Amino acid sequence: MEEKSAPANRRSSGIDSLGKTEPVPLGAVEASAEDRTLTGMTEFDRVLGGGIVPGSVVLVGGDPGIGKSTLLLQTFSGLSRKLGRLLYVSGEESPRQIKMRADRLSVNPENIVLLPETSLEGILDAAAKLSPEAMVVDSIQTVFTQEMLSAPGSVGQVRECAAKLMLFAKRSGIPVFIVGHVTKEGTIAGPRVLEHIVDTVLYFEGDRGHSYRILRTIKNRFGSTNEIGVFEMSDSGLREVDNPSELFLSERPRNVSGSTVVASLEGTRPLMVEMQALVSQTNFGMPRRTSIGVDFNRVNLLIAVLEKRAGLHLGGMDVFVNVVGGLKILEPAVDLGIIATIASSARERSIDPKTFVFGEVGLSGEIRAVAQAEARLREAAKIGFKKAIIPAGNADKIKEGQGLEIIGVRDVEACIKAFFD
Ligand code: TYD
Ligand code: MG
Repeated sequence: MEEKSAPANRRSSGIDSLGKTEPVPLGAVEASAEDRTLTGMTEFDRVLGGGIVPGSVVLVGGDPGIGKSTLLLQTFSGLSRKLGRLLYVSGEESPRQIKMRADRLSVNPENIVLLPETSLEGILDAAAKLSPEAMVVDSIQTVFTQEMLSAPGSVGQVRECAAKLMLFAKRSGIPVFIVGHVTKEGTIAGPRVLEHIVDTVLYFEGDRGHSYRILRTIKNRFGSTNEIGVFEMSDSGLREVDNPSELFLSERPRNVSGSTVVASLEGTRPLMVEMQALVSQTNFGMPRRTSIGVDFNRVNLLIAVLEKRAGLHLGGMDVFVNVVGGLKILEPAVDLGIIATIASSARERSIDPKTFVFGEVGLSGEIRAVAQAEARLREAAKIGFKKAIIPAGNADKIKEGQGLEIIGVRDVEACIKAFFD
């Protein structure tokens, strides 16, 4: 089935309304940054790479109940003031339910049209008639196309429906947000099967036990990946957090061993996070090693480096490492934090709360320089840190110390000395 009813006046992506494509000289293609629309939610715009691109398809994935519908409804509230008519398709909640939520979130109801529909053909028909400035399909798992016999939520359906929404977006120029629940392996297909189809993939993450939420860019055809947006879930919806470092350090214990602050970088954004370690005597046979929020193999490797290069005996010890707040940090600059926090717990010596670290650790115990040292220092200085223990390779090049005492270290041994001697 072909949709032929796309409005002609919209900027389309070179695919005409009959689905035929023509070769276009690159220089003749019109595209500029001004095409993007800012949602007005800074954190959301950041992960999108600077606003919404016409005709783009953005997948917002996450666990059920994490706040995907809330995020999109709130975003639409601001966006509708700016753009005009928006379409919110929900296969999960009735208009009444959505209205109740909207009232709670103080959403501006003007210009938001609700459509309780699960048939893809019905959705595309309505969208073509209404010609909204943007639309949400919540969720892709509830939508089905009549062309397939399989049940809504099956891999085939989810993929086919997403592909058709993509085609619709490209032809009409209408940006489409697709909500996808992350589901356990099984018959229901999660957002993973859609990642290669859509333009942008965002994951909404967070811990049920905590109120903050992180919106992370996994893939973006229009901007950098690894950007994050930080939100806090409150009684009246999601609130943007513009200083996440303070949030993540707010419950840090004072003067206990096994806690270190690392200046990490998420995309372009420096983030101060607390790393914790617990080193304790192994009770039965094999020592246990657990890591939450950092790579398990990396932790094992760093334990070996500590044993061999810094003479720390961890052979008969269980080692647990945790990044506070449920964050996941994969950049190697946290190595020095892992080393310092394990050493702190093993020696039962606390680390000065105004001191922080960053740096990559090599197998021979050498400390390697990392990218964007100055951005990390700036963030730390901003929230009141006084002393930095960082790779000598970075320290040698720093011009502006931001008023921090900076100690450059060349190897793990020197690092341990800087902390504890
Ligand atoms: P929701 O957006 O429905 O999640 P999803 O669409 O990802 O399944 O969010 C549901 C949760 O958010 C629910 O457990 C309650 C919480 N919540 C708040 O704490 N405050 C609010 O203002 C709203 C609307 C939801
Ligand atoms: Mg929902």
